[in-house]
Amino acid sequence: MPSVVIKGMGAYAPKNVVTNEDLSQIVDTSDEWIRTRTGIGERHLADESETVSFMASEAAKEALENSGLSIEEIDLLIVATMTPDMLFPSTACLVQSKLGLKKVASFDIEAACSGFLYALEVGSSMLKAGAYKNALIIGSEKISGIVDWQDRTTCVLFGDGAGAAVLSKSEEPDIGVLGALLRADGDAAHLLHMPGGGSNIPASSESLDDRQHFLKMNGKEIFKVAVRYMEQATLDLLESKGLTIEEIDCVIPHQANMRIIDSLGERLGVPKEKFVNNLVRYGNTSAASIPIALTEAVKLGKLKKGDHLLLIAFGAGLTWGASLIKWT
Ligand code: ACO
Repeated sequence: MPSVVIKGMGAYAPKNVVTNEDLSQIVDTSDEWIRTRTGIGERHLADESETVSFMASEAAKEALENSGLSIEEIDLLIVATMTPDMLFPSTACLVQSKLGLKKVASFDIEAACSGFLYALEVGSSMLKAGAYKNALIIGSEKISGIVDWQDRTTCVLFGDGAGAAVLSKSEEPDIGVLGALLRADGDAAHLLHMPGGGSNIPASSESLDDRQHFLKMNGKEIFKVAVRYMEQATLDLLESKGLTIEEIDCVIPHQANMRIIDSLGERLGVPKEKFVNNLVRYGNTSAASIPIALTEAVKLGKLKKGDHLLLIAFGAGLTWGASLIKWT
């Protein structure tokens, strides 16, 4: 079985940085409440020109440059997003056009905050199966476009941005993306969703009056299950790969809430120094959070050849999972 390695990473963050103090001018909140409950200090919010496809393309360009590959060598494109530019065509097709990537297989994956892990698993499996050689895998989100700016319980949590990875097939065995464990539970769909805008509740004056076109979340209930689900997925994945938690050198969790991350670290018995976190500067960027953090970790030299890297995520769906990578 050939391996699939990450050849290059890239990220894009919108220019506009909005602090907790700024948000306290819009809704009844405070820097103290947001920091102590979530660990978030500021977030980047996209302007009109910074669409999900634009941010994805910018992140992809950086990943390509870092990979040393040319655009002509890419033969597969996957974009993970829950905030596509529009319902159709897919954001991947818009990114394909922006990058000048001609006629390669391109599609979106929607698994909310677990989207990048789903895309990584689908992309690496397609490369391993043999029909493709090099893939661009992108997580890109403009959550500011679907957040209810009158709802202080959600609008303070999210941010915009994109992260991208170039994956390549390698004949060297047992390196790179070693595998993933992905899970979903649609019975809990109501805990985090945007009811309006799809074919079930199309836009109407009633749906607008009812604010159906905004993200709605039961944060408390998600909090309860998130840690347990991520812990179990991690332990099951490690067991299936014959590794122990002590053999993990670096953990990049989905950046949603510092209390969730700390609790996950405690339950898994992973020291804080092994975690990569940038939540304080980005907030929750959903499918973009892990690739943005991984890009920063690579830039800071936090990963060395042979390190075991664990990516762990959860999000709307509910969806959750863990991926294991032997860094090259
Ligand atoms: N500022 C000030 N007060 C606030 C704010 C705010 N922004 N938001 C809520 N409050 C108030 C509430 O009204 C409540 O007041 P009350 O006691 O008078 O009723 C009080 O603060 C406590 O609210 P809780 O909801 O109990 O706060 P909690 O400690 O649970 O934290 C939070 C809320 C941060 C949302 C937490 O539950 C959480 O992080 N949950 C996980 C959510 C998550 O990570 N979702 C990611 C999914 S990712 C994806 O797929 C997009």
